[in-house]
Amino acid sequence: MIKRKQLHIGLFGFGCVGKGLYDVLNLSKHPCAEIVKICVKDKTKDRGVAKDLITFDKHEILNDDSVNLVVELIDDSEEAFDIVKKALLAGKSVVTANKKMIAEHFDDLLSLQASTGQALLYEAAACASIPIIRNLEEYYDTDILNRIEGIINGSTNYILTRSLNEGLSYKEALQIAQQLGYAESNPGLDVEGHDAANKLSILSAHAFGRFILPEDLPRTGIQNITSAELKFARQNNWKIKLLAKAYKTSEGLTAFVMPSYVDDDSALYKVDDVFNGVQTETVFADKQFFSGRGAGAFPTASAVLSDISALSYDYRYEYKKLNQGKDIPLIDDVIPVYLRSEDVDESVLSDSFEHIFEVFKSGNRLHICGQIKLKTIFTWLKTHPNMAVLHLPETYVEINSKGLPILELENLSEL
Ligand code: HSE
Repeated sequence: MIKRKQLHIGLFGFGCVGKGLYDVLNLSKHPCAEIVKICVKDKTKDRGVAKDLITFDKHEILNDDSVNLVVELIDDSEEAFDIVKKALLAGKSVVTANKKMIAEHFDDLLSLQASTGQALLYEAAACASIPIIRNLEEYYDTDILNRIEGIINGSTNYILTRSLNEGLSYKEALQIAQQLGYAESNPGLDVEGHDAANKLSILSAHAFGRFILPEDLPRTGIQNITSAELKFARQNNWKIKLLAKAYKTSEGLTAFVMPSYVDDDSALYKVDDVFNGVQTETVFADKQFFSGRGAGAFPTASAVLSDISALSYDYRYEYKKLNQGKDIPLIDDVIPVYLRSEDVDESVLSDSFEHIFEVFKSGNRLHICGQIKLKTIFTWLKTHPNMAVLHLPETYVEINSKGLPILELENLSEL
């Protein structure tokens, strides 16, 4: 039997996930882990824990040699990076859930792990309760992954589900997502797709060995989705999901974040509310599917707890694929989309499509379904940030290629 290490934890942050971890550790009666100090900012809040556990000075944890593990669960990504860096340099292992911090400082964090010999684990940073990072790292170590795609933001899935099923307004649904502790403190990070891009950036490094800076990932969120797009979904028995995709072709890797119409052929169709779902596709295993709660105190804390347990066995990420994947080129792809825009010259927009399936114009509003290059979409979005662009399902393309009209875009003019 491997002897487990006793972990004395210095915890940074006692918000939704920090408190969740405190409760989960108590409830699970973990044999090897104990929180010895909690560093918080706000001196006025009653935390409901023993007063001597709380400190307002980060050095009380960072300079304490008896603390051998720092768990970082604060909001501010730059402050988080400073804490993580100092903890690793002080010879402590670190667990974090801060996807923004990891995605923005990935290379530095790799170097710090290498130079200090300390481990940094972050399962909770992508898809909360779904153990996707460790699976990509270990299980898919030898099988050749060709594709990973999924719903990797819980708040937007919650908003889209409640808007589509119950007609809740975007604002109402977002407010509930915030009350339930799903949304980021700046919810723009969720709805504009930044959070999904940060997570995809991390997943791509572990899936393909190709780290992509979030700013280099083509991304559009759910903020431009109106009742027209919801009606279009209902009319076709589709759902709308914010999807993150990364897939290999013979030329390289394509990766992007985009709201997508999903039909019931997809395993992601039934992934509703705060749940996340990830589908992988490998050469030998073919398709596999993971789902679970993608946000919230306990589901996120459960992933942090799993990292803590893994550290008690001295587990660390080896980033085995980085050597093979780091130079894979990022390539453009042609994808089928639905696009709605106001005040755009119809012929100029149409000309930028590779192939058009259907077009409908009503007043100054234009709806187009067709095949277009990813780069072209994102060039349009730079100058027309209110455009709604949604990926269309493959089945639509197949049906359309047989000449069968299914979309009835004209119905959208009745809104
Ligand atoms: N705001 C994030 C989400 C939290 O909604 O998915 C979990 O990463």
